Amino acid sequence: MTLSILKDEQGLEIGKVVVFDDLTLIVNAQRAAAWTEVARRIAHEIKNPLTPIRLSAERILRKFGGQIQDPAFRESTEMIVKQVNHLKNLVNEFSQFARLPQTRPVRGSIHKTIDEVLMIFRHSHVNAHFEYNPGQGVPEFRFDPDQMRRVFVNLVDNSLGACHSDPQNPPIRIQFRTKYEPVMKVLRIYVTDNGPGIPATDLQKVFDPYFSTKESGTGLGLAIVKKIVEDHNGIIRAFGNEPRGTKMVIEIPVSDIDFKKHT
Ligand SMILES: Nc1ncnc2c1ncn2[C@@H]1O[C@H](COP(=O)(O)OP(=O)(O)OP(=O)(O)O)[C@@H](O)[C@H]1O
Ligand SMILES: [Mg+2]
Repeated sequence: MTLSILKDEQGLEIGKVVVFDDLTLIVNAQRAAAWTEVARRIAHEIKNPLTPIRLSAERILRKFGGQIQDPAFRESTEMIVKQVNHLKNLVNEFSQFARLPQTRPVRGSIHKTIDEVLMIFRHSHVNAHFEYNPGQGVPEFRFDPDQMRRVFVNLVDNSLGACHSDPQNPPIRIQFRTKYEPVMKVLRIYVTDNGPGIPATDLQKVFDPYFSTKESGTGLGLAIVKKIVEDHNGIIRAFGNEPRGTKMVIEIPVSDIDFKKHT
């Protein structure tokens, strides 16, 4: 914000001009860049010693497992191997976040991508109710189907996680809805659940890398989601759902000019 004082010829104050600059985009980009660098470095530093640690533990187990009868020996070495594998997965997530593959947009139907994702979850979570209300006149447009699939999988994963940890435990309902705004050429995708919801103070933070309220969460899920949506020139925001739960809203521009630029 800059403030200038307006004075007349006698030097008397006659007013003030206040100019506000919206730095949100710049600040967001700087934060993302800083986190990407941190993620890349941590991934690199942690990854190197993991394989030798695991191989050594396996070797100890192979070499002395037969001689040492104390069950603590086997339990402890197996625990090392298990935890190292867990760390490795975590590091892979870090690396994925640090270098998400280049977006490869192809012209296609977002309905198809949503249907595919819901099909997988319907099979794996038969007790949850998944619903999809496709909007009228949603056109085909250029997007990266693999990356958008990751977006939807992450959102559904979060919804299921939230619903499963919900002490109120109502029947799980996860709903997708799309709506096309022809004037603005914007596609809105709503993903809602009836879980415990996100506290109002956390609604912005959930997209920050490493923000997680879960014991074993990396907190990278929604950061990756946000990055993919932004790579599609879109935005994602979190709201409370009525009467309860979470509502994620994605807005993606569907532009003819973009189609031509990419082809
Ligand atoms: N649908 C939801 N309902 C309630 N809370 C949510 C929902 N989606 C996200 N959150 C909150 O946002 C946090 C961040 O989500 P994010 O996907 O980034 O990481 P995570 O799910 O904790 O970890 P990971 O994705 O690695 O498993 C979650 O820990 C949870 O507190
Ligand atoms: Mg998640």
